[in-house]
Formats: sequence, C-alpha cells, structure tokens
Amino acid sequence: MTTTTRPAATGLTALASPVTIAGLELPNRFVMAPMTRFRSPGGVPTDEVAAYYRRRAGNGVGLIVTEGTLVGHPSASHETTVPRMTAGAAEEGWRKVTGAVHAAGGRIATQLWHLGSERRPVDGIPAWTPSGTTGTPEPASAAGSPPMRTMSTADIDAIVAAFAESARVAARAGFDAIEIHAAHGYLLDEFLWPATNRRTDAFGGSPARRAAFPAEVIRAVRGELPVIIRFSQFKERAYEARIADSPAELETILTTLADAGADVFHASQRRFWEPAFPGSRLNLAGWARKLTGRPSITVGSIGLTSDFPASRAMARLGEGLADGEFDLVAAGRILLGNPSWARLVTEGRPAEIRDYEKAHEDVYF
Ligand SMILES: Cc1cc2nc3c(=O)[nH]c(=O)nc-3n(C[C@H](O)[C@H](O)[C@H](O)COP(=O)(O)O)c2cc1C
Repeated sequence: MTTTTRPAATGLTALASPVTIAGLELPNRFVMAPMTRFRSPGGVPTDEVAAYYRRRAGNGVGLIVTEGTLVGHPSASHETTVPRMTAGAAEEGWRKVTGAVHAAGGRIATQLWHLGSERRPVDGIPAWTPSGTTGTPEPASAAGSPPMRTMSTADIDAIVAAFAESARVAARAGFDAIEIHAAHGYLLDEFLWPATNRRTDAFGGSPARRAAFPAEVIRAVRGELPVIIRFSQFKERAYEARIADSPAELETILTTLADAGADVFHASQRRFWEPAFPGSRLNLAGWARKLTGRPSITVGSIGLTSDFPASRAMARLGEGLADGEFDLVAAGRILLGNPSWARLVTEGRPAEIRDYEKAHEDVYF
C-alpha cells in the first residue's frame, strides 16, 4: 500500500533546514509572526522589547517579523504604546532591537502598518480610508466621532511617502527586511477588498486597480531592503471576506504586487492547512508561490494542536516545504508563552511546551 503522507520527522528536518530567501540567509524555516504587544510607550521600543525578540531569535526562530509598527503619519494610528518607525528615539530603540536579534544569530524584519478605518478619532483626526466605509455593518468609529475621510490622491501620495520614509528609517536601524502590512482589514487591505474600496479612480474597480495603491507603496520602499508583503483573504471584522474570489483574481492582485517589487508573500490564514480555493489542496501561501514564482510564508494555528493534531501538522508542513508549496513557516500565539518553542520543536521536546492560553497575550514572557 502506498501512502501520500510523509512522516512528521520529515517536517522537522525541513523546518530545520537553512535557506536563502530574497538574499537573506536564514538558519531555518521558523518565522515569528507579527504580534502587537502595546509595550512601546510613545512609540519607542524599550530594552524590554529588545530582550523579548532576542529570546525568540536565540531559541531557534530564524526570522522575526516585528509587531505592526506605525509609519510616521498622524493618520496611521491613535495608539500610544504601539511602536513607530520614525527618526529619533524610536529609531534608536529599534537599533537596540536589531542589534540584540543579530547578536543572537537571528534576522529581523519590521512590519510597517497603517490602521486605515481602525484608527479611533480620539484626537480629532479621522480615520483615512479608501471610500469612507468599513464594509461591515458594525461602524469602526465611535458614535459622534468625525466621519471617516475618503483619501484623495494627495492623501495617497502622503501615505506612500510615509511608508518610504519609514523604510529608510528601518534600513538605518539595522533591519534585514521590511514587511508591508496589507492584511486583516487595515488600510492597504481596505484598498484590496471591494467592500471597502468603492473608488472609481485609478485605485479602485478591477483587481489590478485595487492593488495599485499597495503596489505604489511597495515601489516606494523597494531598494532599501527585501520586501515581504503580508496579505489575507479574511478581515478581523469579517472572517468570510475575500479580496479574490478565484485564483485568476488572486493572480492579478499578486502579480501586480510582485511586479512592483514584492520579494516574498506572507499569506495570512487562520488555519494553515485549509485549501484557499476549491479543487486544490494548496493553501494561500501555496497559491501565492504558484501564481508569482516568489517565495512564500505560511501561517495559521501552527503549534496550537486543538484543531489539528501536532503530528499531522508537522507532516503537512514538511510536505508543503518539500513540495515547494511554501518556503517559511510563521508561528504567532504559541511563541507568546514559549520563547523557546522553535528550539523545543527542533530538539523533539514537546512535553516542555506550554499550551497556548489567551492570557499569554497580556504577559511578556
Ligand atoms: C496578540 C496578537 C497580535 C497580533 N498582531 C498582529 C500584527 O500586528 N500584525 C499582523 O499582521 N498580525 C497580527 N496578528 C496575527 C498573527 O500575526 C498571526 O497571523 C495569527 O496570530 C495566526 O497565527 P497563530 O495561529 O500562529 O497565532 C496578531 C495576533 C495576535 C494573537
């Protein structure tokens, strides 16, 4: 009898193998997924933040992607403890973070972020959006707050410039790559999703036009560092939402982004083993790689064994890596409570891994 499922050990070997992606030499396939932690008062990452990332880099994570980090434009966010990528104190803080990660043998990308409609107008600045709608029945803005602003082309230019400036700061601060956050219903993703992008200018309409603004951002940041683009079908407010209803639509969007200079596609899914479209077992990262020929990162419930047993997950990851479906494997929540998770997995010590609990999101292990 033949079997198409390879053993979990194959997955482990594949995860532990080094790889060069977009010129970045990585010691293994483990990536830390970006996770907002609210630990950077005034937008400045502290020594504690540096130690937090260093613990992961020194324990088997080959590539860290930082928490979402705000570009230097007032519309990016109302948050005061989310880090920023701006010159001065924040840049100095980040230099300590990248130094700590490099000293531990890891690589680090920063995730550049603009919240779009998720910005709260607490300081009178409205949320900047493609078309003044969140695309969902639940309004993003609190009652009585200023209306959402529909971005003009001058606004678009200003945000593109803000991403470019933050990319320059990131390069100076020692980062190895930039990740552009174009997922989960934030500004760039709001351009990709037809429910939030109702524009009739060059930035709305067809899938290629919806991708035009994220593509301009990529074009503006490329050249500084390798560019990873994070995208998703789902939105945090709409799990069933889709930016592309078919592989053909996805191809148009992703090749627009690849042509603009995206080096790596980080395909955000809630469960990595779920096929992205009917009729193929490829997940979203698999489709991204197949459609663009660029390397991809998979993510979604890795290390969280309740939905999908650990041995099957490991075997599936091994198959995906061996078959060239995706190149890197990102883990989020399991790394919150387990700074050493990647090392414990590699060394075959599952008994020492703490199960993920929601409460880990409030603690800084
Ligand atoms: C506390 C927390 C904060 C997050 N913050 C971000 C973020 O800043 N940017 C982003 O793209 N995704 C963010 N995510 C999503 C994760 O990167 C990841 O895609 C998601 O948690 C699924 O992976 P997991 O199942 O391994 O946790 C966050 C997730 C969590 C749990």
